[in-house]
Parts: sequence; structure tokens; C-alpha cells
Amino acid sequence: MFGRLKALPADPILGLLAKYRKDNNPNKIDLGVGVFKNEAGHTAVLDCVKKAEQHRTNTEDSKVYIGPTGSPLFNDEMAKLIFGAEHKVLNENRARTISTPGGTGALRVAAEFIKSCKDGATIWVSNPTWANHTGLFAAAGLNVKTYPYYDYENKSLDFDGMLNALKEVSSDDVVLLHACCHNPSGMDLNNEQWQQVAEVAKSVGFTPLIDMAYQGFGTGLDEDAYGLRLMAETVKEMIVCSSCSKNFGLYRERIGACTIIGESSISVDIANSVLLYVVRVIYSMPPAHGAAIVETILSSDELRTQWHSELKAMRDRINGNRKLIVDKLAENGVTRDFSFISRQSGMFSFLGITPEQVQQLQDEYSIYMVGSSRMSIAGIANSNVDYLAKSIAKVL
Ligand code: LMR
Repeated sequence: MFGRLKALPADPILGLLAKYRKDNNPNKIDLGVGVFKNEAGHTAVLDCVKKAEQHRTNTEDSKVYIGPTGSPLFNDEMAKLIFGAEHKVLNENRARTISTPGGTGALRVAAEFIKSCKDGATIWVSNPTWANHTGLFAAAGLNVKTYPYYDYENKSLDFDGMLNALKEVSSDDVVLLHACCHNPSGMDLNNEQWQQVAEVAKSVGFTPLIDMAYQGFGTGLDEDAYGLRLMAETVKEMIVCSSCSKNFGLYRERIGACTIIGESSISVDIANSVLLYVVRVIYSMPPAHGAAIVETILSSDELRTQWHSELKAMRDRINGNRKLIVDKLAENGVTRDFSFISRQSGMFSFLGITPEQVQQLQDEYSIYMVGSSRMSIAGIANSNVDYLAKSIAKVL
């Protein structure tokens, strides 16, 4: 059986991490995978997470199965975090949230759920989108198409192109939208643009699937959910995939959530039974540890307040890095305009250089970014920004 297989290339994002770890250059810089790093280049465990873990160690009294839905407290707290406690879909009892193994697990469950709704359904993703979206949806048997999104030339949003494409999709298609901190471009819709997209979703009747992997990394927890909340008020049915990897720093714990919104509480219960069947036949039930940490933090006034401040510190550092690299490039005599980096949001921006230049940065300077020139901004630090700016200047 195995003899028929052909080797596949390493994953474009995760493969980079493996290469970086093997590199012995003391000046190496990791701008690859989207993880937060502090000034020392370390991805530390949040203090609020440490406290929640201690609490779990002290109080956990069983490891018995929890069921495909995961922890009800986690699910309730996540629904409030995503929509805001007083959102219409919660008051009308039209949302069901389940715990999933990370945001990727949420997306895969959502994809299988969509397939149960309509075999061979089409899902539209932004061009570009997170490198794993296309493979993940295709692996579940969905037909993946793209709508225009990033204007590479002007380093901005091709909003007209996007809106015109969305007006043409079919009412039984699904459209994937990034809630905030668009991965990989860093270009987000503003509130007015979200209003227009929500109107199109309503008039065309497609189902929005909103991927929120970075809530709190853009402007703030509520601000980053503006578009998602508006969409949930506007349409009858919707899917949300969220991740606790970045904002709680729980990457390897694999904790996220999949939420479906139905037209009524009766119809969403039916849909939820299908969602739970999908879970049962893939991984049966989600891991518990990450969910226990998140629910402990979100249900404690003290830990939640601490989390807000730790999250703000991560956000401020990333936004500070955006300005830092723009200034350093100019300081090093680069005349090309990179100011767009400081106008974008979240963990990523495209530097806008060629794949050959990306490769040169890796081969000659041990600077690692995805081939598309996507930089993970959190990898920049005061200690490496000079070397980074000088190296970029040399390959331009
Ligand atoms: C990224 O885009 O770098 C992250 O979402 C990590 C991943 O799994 O790709």
C-alpha cells in the first residue's frame, strides 16, 4: 500500500519552523509561523493561564469522558466572548457552541458539517487566505473557489472586487470571512465595509463562515468582533470557527470552538445533532485541558481582568513592532514605501518582495518568512530589527 505514495513537500508554514530550529546562525530571525513572541523571542505561558492551570490541578477530580460537545461552561463563556453577552442570537437561543481541537479542528468540523448540509458544496475563500484553508476544505470534499481580496499592487483591499464577486455567488454556497487580523495580509474590512458585506450576504442568501483566530490581537476583543456580530444580527444562518491558540497563548493545547447559528432554536438543535455526529466520527470528543483553562479564566473576574491586560500587552507589542520596522527601513536608506505595514492589523503583513528575495533572506541572512513574503510581526524585536532592516535593504 505505502509503496504507491509520493512524498509531499513540507507544509509551507510549519516546514519553515523546522528549518529555523535547525539553523545555527546566532542572528537568525523567525518571522514564519504565527505565534506571539516576547522581546526575548520567547512564547511564554500567560500568567493567567498558569493560575488557571494551578486551579485545575487542585480541583480536578476525574478524567471521565466529557462527550462530543465538550465542556458546557467553556462553550457558554466562548459564546459570550464571541458575540457579547447580550447579542440577539444568544437572547433568541439560536446559537450552539461546541469545543474543538483548536481553530483548525473547528474548521474541519465546520467543513464536514457543510458537506452534510450539501454534498459537494462550494466554499469561497479570500484571495489570498490562510495557506491551510484550501487544503482543509478540499480534504473534506468541498469545492473551493476564491474571491478577490488583497490588492498586491496598492497594498490595500480590493473591496469593489470582493463585493462584486460576493454578489454573484449562489445562495447555497458558503463564504469564508476572516473576522479580524486577516491571515496572511493584515488587511481588514472597516466597519462600513462589514455593513456592506452583511447586506450582500442577506440579499444573496449565502452562508457566512467566519474564522476568528485572532480576537483581541487587532484593536480589542469587542472591536475585533464587530463584523462577526453584525453579520450574526443580519443573516439567519451562520457558522463561526474560533481559536484560543493565539489570544490565550494555548497553541499546543489545541482548543477552539465551532458555533452554528440557526434560524430558530428548534432548527439549530437539529443542525447541532448533525454537528455532534460529525465530531463523533472524526475524533469522538475534544481534549479537555485547554477548555478548562479558558473557562476558568473567563468565569473569574480576577483572571479575566488579568487576561485582558496580558492580551493588551501582546497587541501593543505587535502594533509597536509594525511601526518599528517601518521606521528602521527608512533609517537604513530604503526609499520604497513600507508605511502600509503600520496601517495593517494583527500578526501578519506581506512585505511585498519576490519569492527569490524571500529565499535570499533565508539563505544569506537566516531570516525566515513564508514564500509569499508573509511576515509574522511578533518575531521582530528591538534586538534584531536593525539586522532585519539592513538585510531587507540588501535584497531589495
Ligand atoms: C499561521 O498561519 O502561521 C498559524 O495559523 C499557524 C498555522 O497553523 O499555520
